[in-house]
Amino acid sequence: MSTPTYNLNGRDIIVVGGGGYIGAHVCKMIAENGGTPIVFDNFSAGHEHAVKWGPFVDVDLRDRADTIAAFRNHDHVESVIHLASSIEVGEGERDPAGFYDNNVMGAINLLMAMRETQTHNLIFSSTCATYGETQNMPLLESEIQNPFSVYGKTKLAIEHLIQSYHKAYGLNYVTFRYFNASGADASGDIGEEHDPETHLIPNALKAAAGLGSKMKLFGTDYDTPDGTCVRDYIHVNDIALAHIEAIRAMDAGLTNAELNLGTGEGYSVLQIIKAIEEVTGLPVPYDAGPRREGDLTKLYANAAKAESVIGFTPQHSSLENIIQTAWNFHKTKWGV
Ligand code: UFG
Repeated sequence: MSTPTYNLNGRDIIVVGGGGYIGAHVCKMIAENGGTPIVFDNFSAGHEHAVKWGPFVDVDLRDRADTIAAFRNHDHVESVIHLASSIEVGEGERDPAGFYDNNVMGAINLLMAMRETQTHNLIFSSTCATYGETQNMPLLESEIQNPFSVYGKTKLAIEHLIQSYHKAYGLNYVTFRYFNASGADASGDIGEEHDPETHLIPNALKAAAGLGSKMKLFGTDYDTPDGTCVRDYIHVNDIALAHIEAIRAMDAGLTNAELNLGTGEGYSVLQIIKAIEEVTGLPVPYDAGPRREGDLTKLYANAAKAESVIGFTPQHSSLENIIQTAWNFHKTKWGV
């Protein structure tokens, strides 16, 4: 974890989805910077054991009355970080209504509750998946947004809703378009724990540890140097750090921004597998198979705007640190 970056002076901050992978790292960093994270979660994807740095409120954003009541009980709070959402791309294709209900209806209720309680500042987790297939790499925030997946479409709908709240009611916001969150806190006590786990790095580590079957590599016929998909992997503590920088910038008068959160570097699936073999000293057994539905060929960020608007630069995102911290976390969790 980095040294404190901004004194939050005992301030309470609502973190919706604070029991999740990114949420827990954000909460820890809020606490390390002198604030108190108030976690709103229903543990549909998050974990009770990951809520350690402040109070917990059991709330499901799909329940409008409950959401408004939870905000009324915390009407002194000025800033909200909204990270709760369905994220599994394949599930969105199979159950679009469930995705829209959880992500978009949840966001509508959250925004209504914020307006009712005059809570003015929102930091929202969007995704690079809102851009869609394009050759224009690195991706600028001004790139056309034409999402391919239901997941990306729900996130884009929420981006638009937030922009409309800014225009209609003066809501201040920072929307972060995350690239690939990865790695774990150096303490080893929080990390990536999705169920089912669909992400590359934990799946490749599991195969390296000899747990379960070989990793499936989805697609070797993409238009990239080695035929596998290219992504921009950013350490979860850099994502957390960016949230603190966003609060600082909003305190200084920033009213609205859409910002990529990536490193600007793209790595292919095969490059990640090779790096995992180097860091762990273990082979990653894999079977190369067909493409996974919904995957885009290449996604990596132009990261300049986050630096110029909120002063954020990644500090933890070398590939080696990402893999080493993820490996430390998973080794402890798996007892290997
Ligand atoms: N991959 C494999 N095998 C696996 C898992 C992943 O080959 O077992 C490949 C994927 O096909 C992709 C790359 O590794 O090419 C990265 O896949 P991830 O699932 O780790 O990450 P994504 O880029 O698909 O996902 C990211 C976020 C998701 C978000 C998605 C939207 O982590 O939360 O972007 O595009 F939904």
